[in-house]
Amino acid sequence: MTTATETTTFCRNYINGRWVESKSTKIVERRNPANTDDVVARIPLSTREEMKEAIIAAKAAYPGWRETPGPARGKILFKAVHIMEQQKEDLARLLTREEGKALKDSLGEVQRSINIMEFMAGEGRRLDGVTLPSELPKNFTYTLRVPLGVCGAITPWNFPVAIPIWKIAPALVCGNTVVFKPATLTPLTAMRIAEIFDQAGLPPGVLNLVMGSGREAGDELVQNPHVHALSFTGSNEVGAQLYASGALGMKKCQCEMGGKNPVVILADADLQLAMESTLSGAFASTGQRCTATSRVVIEEKVADQFVGMLVERAKKYVVGDGLEPGVEMGPSVDESQMNTVLKYIDIGKKEAKLLCGGERLGGPKFDDGWFVAPTVFDHVKWDSQIAQDEIFGPVLSVIRVKSYEEALHAANSVRFGLTSSIYSTDSNKIFDFIDKIETGMTHVNSPTVGGEAHVPFGGTKATGIGPREVGHESLNFYSEVKVVYIDYTGRKRESSIY
Ligand code: UN1
Repeated sequence: MTTATETTTFCRNYINGRWVESKSTKIVERRNPANTDDVVARIPLSTREEMKEAIIAAKAAYPGWRETPGPARGKILFKAVHIMEQQKEDLARLLTREEGKALKDSLGEVQRSINIMEFMAGEGRRLDGVTLPSELPKNFTYTLRVPLGVCGAITPWNFPVAIPIWKIAPALVCGNTVVFKPATLTPLTAMRIAEIFDQAGLPPGVLNLVMGSGREAGDELVQNPHVHALSFTGSNEVGAQLYASGALGMKKCQCEMGGKNPVVILADADLQLAMESTLSGAFASTGQRCTATSRVVIEEKVADQFVGMLVERAKKYVVGDGLEPGVEMGPSVDESQMNTVLKYIDIGKKEAKLLCGGERLGGPKFDDGWFVAPTVFDHVKWDSQIAQDEIFGPVLSVIRVKSYEEALHAANSVRFGLTSSIYSTDSNKIFDFIDKIETGMTHVNSPTVGGEAHVPFGGTKATGIGPREVGHESLNFYSEVKVVYIDYTGRKRESSIY
């Protein structure tokens, strides 16, 4: 399929307000995962030196940006909102071509990014502190929010617009400068983000973009002493290493990692509603999201009926090039991700009962891409590998249980704790679930995925560490508290503070 953007882009870094070509001789190619003949971009794997240049630029820009009043910083973000709104359709198409998700999901992601940035722009006027009474007479005590300095944003390929925006926007509005290292699988959306901020009038050096591998450019960002904070979204393996290195450098770190999110369906649930949202939670974005529904935990009494409805619909789920009208699910992001998914499907075939999918899709529509069929396993044991590991693909496990108590136990018996959902009409059980489920976010009678622009996002257990992202909460990561005591007695104090 030919699109207006179908040309190969040679990617450049954006350092100190200029687009610069990397001197690196290591170049990787990015191909459209739905059609591997389409070379989307050539990406230089920038050197440590180039990353250092970006960090130096961010450090130099910091004093000026820190002094820019919050409302003025917010105004630049509002300009970026308007530019992104104008580019919405085009940016969404680029996202689909580069990452693979269905166009409607890309449009949703871009709109969500716009909403997040709009909320954050307003936060420029709400950078709040608290006033507290003093123990002493004629004393005024209050707190201020102050920025941290240079922040590193290390972002994944699966939400290549929304996740960078939900890190960059609060970092900027708080008065920090940023070095942004996107995943090499999605360089064009990253360049577009930097372009939008450039057009919005962000001063040089306030946001810098460096393409590169985790091992070189990424390591430099994580280890460089001029970087004060790191916000990372990605795998647990990388997140744990980043957290350890960050700790050695006394950097503030925030890591958002895996998920293995359950939807609990009780016998009294509206099964049609539960089925529809399980389907979209599991298969939209090809299951490549940390909030994807990957486990159904269902009471035995209604399991046959639910599974029958689910499989009938899953078989009709429209898979294809995300740019084609009507497509509900695109490909895996690349060959290696597809192979990981297929490996888990093989494991699943030994551990449980395959109901549908379970294979790579073939034929003229699929041969040029990395397509896996929507896959459902039934009679999965809660402690089996496919019920424990994050697969990051369109694979759903159905776990049958005898009671609500058993469902809660199965739901909580994983190392991750991002999100969850319960379908029931029993308010006592719903509130008990809200109390006891070990996830950072939970949904009642709605899918496990998604999140609103002004509402905190993040998880517990092995999923996340550090303050929550998104919403007002995210300011707590990108700023710190300065405490001020003002004595206005005008003479020596008679009593002191301890
Ligand atoms: C969503 O599901 O709406 O990497 C967003 C991820 C998450 C973002 C998910 N950090 O999938």
